[in-house]
Amino acid sequence: MTRYIFFSGKGGVGKTTMASATAIHYALTGERTLIVTTDPASNLADVFEQEIGHKITPVKGVLKNLFAMEIDPDEATREYKEGIIGPYRTIMPEDIIASLEEQLSGPCTTEMASFDRFIDFMETDEYDVIVFDTAPTGHTIRLLELPVDWSRHIEEASKGSGQTCLGPVQSLQDSKDKYDRATALLKDTERTTFIFVMRPDKLSLYETLRASRELETIGIKPGEIIINGILPKEVCEMHSRR
Ligand SMILES: Nc1ncnc2c1ncn2[C@@H]1O[C@H](COP(=O)(O)OP(=O)(O)O)[C@@H](O)[C@H]1O
Ligand SMILES: [Mg+2]
Repeated sequence: MTRYIFFSGKGGVGKTTMASATAIHYALTGERTLIVTTDPASNLADVFEQEIGHKITPVKGVLKNLFAMEIDPDEATREYKEGIIGPYRTIMPEDIIASLEEQLSGPCTTEMASFDRFIDFMETDEYDVIVFDTAPTGHTIRLLELPVDWSRHIEEASKGSGQTCLGPVQSLQDSKDKYDRATALLKDTERTTFIFVMRPDKLSLYETLRASRELETIGIKPGEIIINGILPKEVCEMHSRR
């Protein structure tokens, strides 16, 4: 397996279950493992039966190598804004800071913030394996398209007005490099694996095919598919006899 493993698929198909099982497996084999969820309706805390939240938390029990985090979009937004505004706070007049804060209050900041947090994990070498338990498919794909969009947006704005909906271009130039690196990493099959989880039914198959085509349009090859919830033959026979 690769260092970064993404689990994607519709709600309720078993992403969190499969992602957690995978993370536990790597932790047990001695790899320092982090499981991160970007699903706002995360249930990682239920799976590991402990509080997790918006910070890297060691998973209790026998697994010394396992860490978990639930990305909170509001917290991520606050951190992201502070990261941009922070350096200007002491050197700029108050009204400029206020105007920056206002510029950074739109929905695009919120969207970007979770992704930014997410990329940070792809840039650290603190873990041998990072498992991403992502939000339902459409949302994930939107997130994955972001670095492509944003690096283009930043480039265009730097030639034109110098303004982006995320604040002045100068403060974002570093971000462009970061998003370019993230895109390259997501496309690199040596480093990143995408796993779709689905159920053995037509609708799920259709959804998985569509999602994997969408991924391919942004240059990402889906690696594996897990068909979850196949019942053993005896159970099916028992049901059909009823
Ligand atoms: N193979 C399985 N066998 C039994 N229960 C399962 C299996 N896979 C998932 N579940 C259960 O189905 C529910 C949804 O799974 P979950 O992993 O939370 O899905 P997702 O993260 O995709 O929304 C959970 O209650 C989980 O315990
Ligand atoms: Mg889940």
